[in-house]
Amino acid sequence: MNERDSEAVAAQLVAKGYSLAPSENFADVILLNTCSVRDFAEQKAIGKMQNLAADVRKNRPNVVLGFMGCMAQSRGQELVDKLPDVDLVIGTQKFHRTADYLDEIISGTREKIVDVKAEEKSEATIREHLLNGNSQKSVSAFVSIMQGCNQYCTFCIVPYTRGEERSRTIPDIVNECRELVSRGVKEITLLGQIVTSYGKRDSSLTTHHSSLSPFVQLLEAVHEIDGLERIRFTSPHPKGYGDDLIDAYARLPKLCESAHIPVQSGSDRVLKLMHRGYTREKFLGIIKKLRAANPEIGITTDIIVGFPGETEKDFEETLSLAREVEFDNAYIFKYSPRRDTPAAAMPDQVPQKIREERNQQLLETVNEIGKRKYNSFVGRQTQILVEGPSKKNAARMSGRTRCNKIVLFDGSERHRGQIMDLKITRAGSFTLYGDPAIVNL
Ligand code: 5AD
Repeated sequence: MNERDSEAVAAQLVAKGYSLAPSENFADVILLNTCSVRDFAEQKAIGKMQNLAADVRKNRPNVVLGFMGCMAQSRGQELVDKLPDVDLVIGTQKFHRTADYLDEIISGTREKIVDVKAEEKSEATIREHLLNGNSQKSVSAFVSIMQGCNQYCTFCIVPYTRGEERSRTIPDIVNECRELVSRGVKEITLLGQIVTSYGKRDSSLTTHHSSLSPFVQLLEAVHEIDGLERIRFTSPHPKGYGDDLIDAYARLPKLCESAHIPVQSGSDRVLKLMHRGYTREKFLGIIKKLRAANPEIGITTDIIVGFPGETEKDFEETLSLAREVEFDNAYIFKYSPRRDTPAAAMPDQVPQKIREERNQQLLETVNEIGKRKYNSFVGRQTQILVEGPSKKNAARMSGRTRCNKIVLFDGSERHRGQIMDLKITRAGSFTLYGDPAIVNL
């Protein structure tokens, strides 16, 4: 989500005549887009800004320094007060105002600007793309379909930093996707904090006599786009996995068989304290139905360990859920108390040491299962969409299977954007290696 927001702001600036600097050492404007989901992310952004102020500012006093995004939203003026080198603080509903504010600061009309107000229709302002950012064609793009969240999970700061759920219209989203496809994009990931709630709060956005949820109506509309090969979305909420969405995996061939469904805990007691709105059994039922609709589906999740009041028994239930589901991968987070969230004030906060131990133990379980799952691909033929050179080794090309596994192979630029079959020769840590030559023999 943040990468997408940053890209849209960069594209807006490029449209106004700015160019992208190769690094912060050459930039006239440095904006840090920030995340508030865990305290670690906030500390990292503050530390980075302190370094920029000490290093970059010292040599180039006119560099403009700013914070954008969730931490900017939740801390606002406080950031300027604590870090006097900061010129600009832009909240999550004001990304599209960045260029204007920079004009004011650079021309000297205003010295410092903090804008974290809410703005109607701001959900439709993240739309510009920097597709050829690195002079290479993008194969895959993210499209923001909504902003905000109304779930109010007790651990989560997002409803306070991103605001109420607000959805863009289907034609608006489809137009953006069409434009991307006309520029060479083959795969689109629909983005939102809680995509399965798309359009639920505004009946004018969708056809209400349809039996399909607004999100599935949106998937159908995007699916119609000629030239688009693959559709993904992130993140859904388990409570939004109705039968219409499960059927969509069997019905819409462009919808890739992959799902990132945050479960957060395997204990009903903890799920309730978290205000998640489903039980372990309900979650397991969804997984079963998804696998029945498409046995190849790749399933990943998010899990929090050490939520306040989580006992050894609760944690055991999370471990057993991980074993039962056999996630392809899981992102594990140590609970981090966030300001103004109900969980931060709950009794029985779990000591840091136990949070770390549980994190380690769950990680081992998840890795062991992941390894087994990835190894089971060896020897099989699979289809990938080639995205570009591998980040770690530019001599290799990188693509993804429909079930969202990264596959590396010896290839070249001519493979970019191709949908190709290859044979998996070996598995590394959450990565597969393939060989197209074997298929052609
Ligand atoms: N502490 C730890 N992890 C958190 N997440 C959200 N809030 C917190 C928190 N306070 C995790 C959830 C979510 C992911 C994006 O971040 O697992 O799905």
